[in-house]
Amino acid sequence: MRGIIYDGTTSRLVEGIQVRDPGPREVIVEIGAAGLCHSDVSYMSGLYPVPSPGVCGHEGAGIVTTVGNAVTHVKPGDHVIIATLSSCGMCEYCASGRPTACRATLANWSQPFTFEGNPIFNFAATSAFVERTLVRDVQCVKIPDDVPLSSAAIVGCGVVTGMGAVFNRANVQRGQSAAVFGVGGVGLNVIQALRVQGATTIIAIDTVPEKESIARKFGATHFIDGKREDIVDAIAQICPSSATAPRGAFNSGGVNWAFDCVAHPTVTWNALESLDWEGTVVVIGVASQTAEFKGLYGRLTQVDRGIIGCRYGSISPHRDIPRIIEMYRRGDVLLDELVTAIHPIEKWQDAVHEMETGAVARGVLSFQ
Ligand SMILES: NC(=O)c1ccc[n+]([C@@H]2O[C@H](COP(=O)([O-])OP(=O)(O)OC[C@H]3O[C@@H](n4cnc5c(N)ncnc54)[C@H](O)[C@@H]3O)[C@@H](O)[C@H]2O)c1
Ligand SMILES: [Zn+2]
Ligand SMILES: [Zn+2]
Repeated sequence: MRGIIYDGTTSRLVEGIQVRDPGPREVIVEIGAAGLCHSDVSYMSGLYPVPSPGVCGHEGAGIVTTVGNAVTHVKPGDHVIIATLSSCGMCEYCASGRPTACRATLANWSQPFTFEGNPIFNFAATSAFVERTLVRDVQCVKIPDDVPLSSAAIVGCGVVTGMGAVFNRANVQRGQSAAVFGVGGVGLNVIQALRVQGATTIIAIDTVPEKESIARKFGATHFIDGKREDIVDAIAQICPSSATAPRGAFNSGGVNWAFDCVAHPTVTWNALESLDWEGTVVVIGVASQTAEFKGLYGRLTQVDRGIIGCRYGSISPHRDIPRIIEMYRRGDVLLDELVTAIHPIEKWQDAVHEMETGAVARGVLSFQ
C-alpha cells in the first residue's frame, strides 16, 4: 500500500508498505483522510527526537477494517477518529481522566510496518499518511457515519489540542480575555473554544495578515499583525489597566490568558508581557528540545502569573472527542470550515508548502 516514509533525511511517497496483523487489543483502520499538523512538518524536518524510518502522519480518521479478538468497542465498518494517546488505562493518571500524563503514551514507538523487507516505525503511535494503519483499541473513538472523514481527521490532533487547552488545561471562565499567538489549525481551535466558553475579548495575532478573516469567523474579536513591534502595547490598549492607563503597577493590564501556538522566544516573551495580574501563558507550540525562552521573574512572582505547557489539549479522548463532535453537529463548533484544501496523497508536498506560507487553516490528505 501507499504511504509517506521519513527516512531520517527526506520524506517520500512510496508504494509497497505492509502492516502486520492486529494483536488481541489492536485495530486496523483504513485511513479516509489525514490532516497535516505542523508537528508532521517538524517530524519530517528531523526536529523530533523519535526514531526513523517511520510512516508519517498522526491526525487521521477512517473506517475500521479488522479488529483483534479482544476488541469490544469498535467493529469493522465503524467510522473512527484516531487519538494519538496509546494510554494504558490502568495507571493513576488514566484512572483520574488524565491520560496525557500516562507514562505509556510517550516514547512508545513500535514497528508495525515493513517496507522492502525492513521494519518501519510508526509516528506518534498513529501513522496516518498511509492507506491502512495499526493502532491500539483505546485510540479508536467511534463517530457517527455522517461526519465527513476530512473534517473528522483534524479532530485527531489540531482540534483537540486547541480546544482542550482552553477547556481542560486553562478552564477559561465566562467573561475572561485571551490572546492567541498563531492562527493555524491549533490556534483557530483555541479561538473557537474561547468563544464556546464565553470569553469576551479574544485577540488573535498572526504574521500572515490574511488570517484575520478566518480568525474572526472562529470568534476572534480583535486581530493584530504579528509582524508589528508593539504587539504588547496593542494588547494593553485593548485590555487596559484602567480608563486612563494601559499599564499599571507590576505591569497590570492585559489579558487573563495568552496561548502560544508558535513556540518562538519572541512570541513567548510577548505572551508573558501581555498578561494581566493572575494571567497565565499556555505554551502549546513545540520547539526543538534545546530551544530556550526568557522572561522577567518580576512578572511572575508578585502577582500570580504563570507559564504552563499543554500536551494534546490535556484531553481524555473518549470524553472530549464525542463532546466536540456533538458540538459540531449542533453548529457550535466549526470543523468543515477548518479544511481549506483536500489533496490526494500524491500532492502532499503542496499541503506542506501551503502550511509553510500560512495560506491554509488546515490542509488534508485523502486516499480516496
Ligand atoms: N502541544 C501539543 O500537543 C501540540 C499538538 C499539535 C501541534 N502542536 C504544535 O503547535 C504549533 C502550531 O501547530 P499548527 O498545526 O497550528 O501550525 P500551523 O502552521 O497551522 O499554524 C501556525 C501559525 O502560526 C503563525 N505564526 C508563525 N510565526 C508566528 C509569529 N512569530 N507570530 C505570530 N504567528 C506566527 C503562522 O502564520 C501560522 O498561521 C506547532 O508548533 C505544532 O508542532 C502542539
Ligand atoms: Zn495509564
Ligand atoms: Zn499534531
